[in-house]
Amino acid sequence: MTSVTTLFSPVEEDLRVLTDNLKQLVGARHPILFAAAEHLFEAGGKRLRPAIVLLISRATMPNQEITPRHRRLAEITEMIHTASLVHDDVVDEAETRRSIPTVNTSFGNRVAVLAGDFLFAQSSWYLANLDSLEVVKLLSEVIMDLAEGEIRQGLSQFDPDLSIEAYLEKSYYKTASLIANSSKAAGVLSGVSAELADRLYLYGRHLGLAFQIVDDILDFTSSSETLGKPAVADLRQGHLTAPVLYALEEKPHLEVLISRELTEPEDFEKALALIEESRGIERSRELAAHHTELAVQQLVHLPACPHRDALTQLADYVLSRLY
Ligand code: IPE
Ligand code: IPE
Ligand code: MG
Ligand code: MG
Repeated sequence: MTSVTTLFSPVEEDLRVLTDNLKQLVGARHPILFAAAEHLFEAGGKRLRPAIVLLISRATMPNQEITPRHRRLAEITEMIHTASLVHDDVVDEAETRRSIPTVNTSFGNRVAVLAGDFLFAQSSWYLANLDSLEVVKLLSEVIMDLAEGEIRQGLSQFDPDLSIEAYLEKSYYKTASLIANSSKAAGVLSGVSAELADRLYLYGRHLGLAFQIVDDILDFTSSSETLGKPAVADLRQGHLTAPVLYALEEKPHLEVLISRELTEPEDFEKALALIEESRGIERSRELAAHHTELAVQQLVHLPACPHRDALTQLADYVLSRLY
C-alpha cells in the first residue's frame, strides 16, 4: 500500500510550510482558544485536504509554480476541516482525535464550541482576504453545508428508513462539499476554464464521498488505536452508515433492533453480528470504488504531470485504507 507520505511527495515541502503557518495563523489573542486549536494542529492529521488543494494548484499553473494565494487557500481548507472536527467531537461526545484527547475532553464542551467557532471565524477572515469573490462564495457555502450535514445526521439517528441516497447527500454536506469546493477554488485561483473548474469540483465531490464511505467502513473494521479516534462508535450513536443501510436490506431483524435504539441487553452485539453476516461491508466497498472511479475520470482533463499522477493515486489510497 502506498503510504500517504509517498503520495504527497510532490507537495511535501509545501505541506511543511503549511504546518508551520497554521499554528501562527490561529493567533494568540485568546490563550485558551489558541491552546485548544494549537493542540490539534500540533497533533496533525493526514492533511489530505490541503494536499489535494496544493496538488491541484501546481497541476493547473504554468511550470507548476504556485502563488501565496494557493498556499493560503490550502491553509484555510485545513482550518475549516479542523473546526468541523472540533464541533463534530462535541456532537459525537468523542474522547480522542488524532490519537490525543479531543478539545471537549481536555477543555470541556463550552471551550470546544467556542474554539470551533473561532476557527471558522478565522478561516472566513483569511478567506475574505484572498480577494476573490468566487472563492469566497465556494468556501462559505462549505461552512453552511457542514452545519447542514451535522443537522441532517442528528435528525436521522436510529432511523431505519434512511435511504442510501439520503446518506450520500448527508455525506456530501459533511465531507465531500469541502473537498469539492476547495478543489474547484484551487483551479479558480489558477484561472482555469469554467469547464475544468467543474471537473475539479466533481473530482473532489466523488473522492470526498468515497472517503466518507471508507471512514464509515473503518468505524466497523478498524480499531481505535489505528484510527486515533473511537471505533465502532457510529452505530452505537445511531448514525446509520452504508454498511448498516445495506445490511438492513438483508436482515429484517436488524430493523427491530435499530428501531428500539439498541436499548435491550445485547442488542448492540446482535446488530454487529447481523451486519457482519450481511454483504453490507462488501457493498459499501463497491460503492466507494464506484466513486473513486468517477473521481479519477475527471483528471484526464488536467495536463500530465507528477501532481496529476499523485491525484490519481490518491483515489487508490482512499480505497486501500480498507485493507
Ligand atoms: C475525518 O477526516 C473526518 C471525516 C471526514 C471522515 P480525516 O480522516 O481526514 O481526519 P484527519 O484530518 O486526518 O485527522
Ligand atoms: C465526518 O464524520 C466529520 C466531519 C466532516 C465533521 P464522522 O463523524 O464520521 O467523522 P469522525 O469519524 O468522527 O472523524
Ligand atoms: Mg464523529
Ligand atoms: Mg467516522
